[in-house]
Amino acid sequence: MSYAVAVLGAMWGDEGKGHITHHLSKTFDWVIRFNGGANAGHTIYRDGVKYVHNLMPSFDWRKTDLKAFLGSGMVIDLEQLHKEVSLLWSHNTGYPSRVYVDPDAFVVLPEHKEEDKASNGHIGSTNRGIGPAYTARTARRGLRIRDRMRDADNNRDQHFIKEMQRMGVHFKSALEMRREMESASLLFEGAQGVLLDINHGIYPYVSCSDATIGGIYASGFAWARPEKVYGVAKCYTTKVGEGPFPTEIHGKEADELRQRGNEFGATTGRPRRVGWLDLPALDYACQKGGITHLILTKFDILDGMDRVKVCVAYDKPPVSSSDFFDAVPQYITVPGWEDSKDHDQLAPFVRQVERLTRCHVSYISAGTDTKDIVSW
Ligand code: IMO
Ligand code: MG
Repeated sequence: MSYAVAVLGAMWGDEGKGHITHHLSKTFDWVIRFNGGANAGHTIYRDGVKYVHNLMPSFDWRKTDLKAFLGSGMVIDLEQLHKEVSLLWSHNTGYPSRVYVDPDAFVVLPEHKEEDKASNGHIGSTNRGIGPAYTARTARRGLRIRDRMRDADNNRDQHFIKEMQRMGVHFKSALEMRREMESASLLFEGAQGVLLDINHGIYPYVSCSDATIGGIYASGFAWARPEKVYGVAKCYTTKVGEGPFPTEIHGKEADELRQRGNEFGATTGRPRRVGWLDLPALDYACQKGGITHLILTKFDILDGMDRVKVCVAYDKPPVSSSDFFDAVPQYITVPGWEDSKDHDQLAPFVRQVERLTRCHVSYISAGTDTKDIVSW
């Protein structure tokens, strides 16, 4: 049987999932995206060079037998995918032939992106056509990649598909791949985060896909139950776009944290809203997301702070996404750390996280290099 593990965003996205997945991918056979589309911006540093993957999973292409799969729960802009595949091609990675795309995934059309720009300002969407593409799917008028492949008058997408096939990309469904994947190790990579999930995120300030463990099953992988579900969170919190953010900070303190953490959107370049770690929100996300273990990132950004603020409770525990709208956060401060490489200094902070989420912290990360990710 296959061995499967998942990495999910535990908060509002941008937690460092790409960095973590890229690192873990070296010990897996497959990296599988299952939700969202090019709204994701997964930043990876490879040999000191920065890459942003929007549709492509965050695999380490230096491992020559690692394969990538784009699942049917995604909405795929074929022009954008063609761009990312071409990048792999130009880097001479030989990788396109190890990329598999489920033709049951729905496509994002140019008009979806136009509609997104015109109508989703109040949410602060990424304008990548995600909402309109999922709306079309739900309204039973969406188009799948499979439809675009056989549609006679649809040269534009067919051109991209043919070009990708020429470079070696395979279009195969999750069931066609089952036999091969069942004797392999699978790493599922979530996009967005549980608080942006269509069902359990802070509605209506959400994205439109399944960012919880449910998204893996929904994309046809019910047979590949993850043994571990890692939730990734920063040691502080960020959010892009509108909606409630109980631990948000403003003014000079916020500007400073934003600069230190380089908190500007990887996809849109927008300055991210910033705040302190929100443990009631993280606990909610672990329960709703199916998260069993945590990975905490960006500890280096808070190096040198005397004390670090953490939200440990709201006036009442959130049991529904609607409870975030009027939450009154209660804080404690814990001793800060001079050097995030020294685990003894981080221990008081990590203890609070484990205590309040009842999840074991498995890894921490304190930098952009893979060697900065260490077991806790
Ligand atoms: P990764 O995978 C952070 C946010 C948008 C907006 C809302 C809806 O990099 O963590 P959409 O374009 O999806 O309809 O926008 O969701 N959003 C993200 N925020 N990281 C992401 O992805 C996001 N994907 C969507 O900013 O508030
Ligand atoms: Mg991102």
